[in-house]
Amino acid sequence: MYLYHQGKHTRQAHVGLPEGTYEEEHGRQGFFGPVSHIYRTHPPTDWVRFEGSLRPHAYDFNNVTPPDHKDAGAGRQRLFYNDDVVLSVSRRGEAMPHYFRNGDGDEVWFVHEGEGMIETDYGTLEYERGDYIVIPRVTTYRIHPRTEKNFFLIIEAFPEVSIPTREQKGLIGVHALFDLSAITLPKLPETYDERAGEEHVILIQREGEISSMVYPFNPLDAVGWKGDLYPWKINVRDIRPVMSHRVHLPPPAHTTFVMNNAVICTFLPRPIEEDEDALKVPFYHRNTDYDEVLFYHAGDFFSRDNIKPGMVTLHPTGFHHGPHPKALANMHKLKRTDEIAVMLDTFNTLHVAPEAEAVEWKEYWKSWMKK
Ligand SMILES: [Fe+2]
Repeated sequence: MYLYHQGKHTRQAHVGLPEGTYEEEHGRQGFFGPVSHIYRTHPPTDWVRFEGSLRPHAYDFNNVTPPDHKDAGAGRQRLFYNDDVVLSVSRRGEAMPHYFRNGDGDEVWFVHEGEGMIETDYGTLEYERGDYIVIPRVTTYRIHPRTEKNFFLIIEAFPEVSIPTREQKGLIGVHALFDLSAITLPKLPETYDERAGEEHVILIQREGEISSMVYPFNPLDAVGWKGDLYPWKINVRDIRPVMSHRVHLPPPAHTTFVMNNAVICTFLPRPIEEDEDALKVPFYHRNTDYDEVLFYHAGDFFSRDNIKPGMVTLHPTGFHHGPHPKALANMHKLKRTDEIAVMLDTFNTLHVAPEAEAVEWKEYWKSWMKK
């Protein structure tokens, strides 16, 4: 399409907004496709009413009680889902009495709270707060929390999960956003504890149904392995975000994991853009092709009021979101962001389970309204 313009506009996106205007980005393919910027005279979030189910949503996942919270033999709680991904929370207080294997997809565990160890076919992996743990499809594993208070955000992905390729990283080089040397792999135990005579149950999930398989010995009996498929982890402290001191970068600059029809990004503390005329808060946009989930892990969520760690926002395709009025008013005072958040963007509509609806903050859509 021909690059066209009318009326007041900037020379470059997100820089030197015409006096008294609010910039909205209207773009396709999650910031990679055709895009226009609209310079408005009101913030597009200055609505006064919503009717129907489509609106901004926020949920307090701290108030979700997954089955595994009190019953070690039970599972996680599914909260959002579609044909590509399922987002769940586990608050397991005790070790799994069984082994587990997901025949439906890869799993990405984000450790919001707690520490412990995971036994896998490839050895044991210690985990701590802020870890992303990637467990490939049909890996057998068992979680052993060491802490009483545990909170895992689990993204189950039916398409294969990978990290951005060399080509996707492009100009920023192969060591962005973390050097592969910073990942941690499981370690094989020095001795094999056969525990013969006991029954060892592996629960296997396929099409959401659970079946089980029983061995008369510890099935994690590997004494060696080789190859390029294995569970691994990276801690958010080892992810080194890129930014520009001169222009606000779009969310894909913070991509951690990619898969067909979904992407996981991590927002981390960083300096604010320095240039006087650079936009310093996320620009307004209506999600055009993606539903957007943000899980707030730690820090001060500068662009959102009344959002605390463990809370989640869901901004479905179709209407706007952008900074809250207070963040916009204070953007020139800020020097750094101090937030850690996990974003899941999905190409297909996410459905909300009743257990998530039960912890919804129903008035969230009003939070953009000026008091
Ligand atoms: Fe967004």
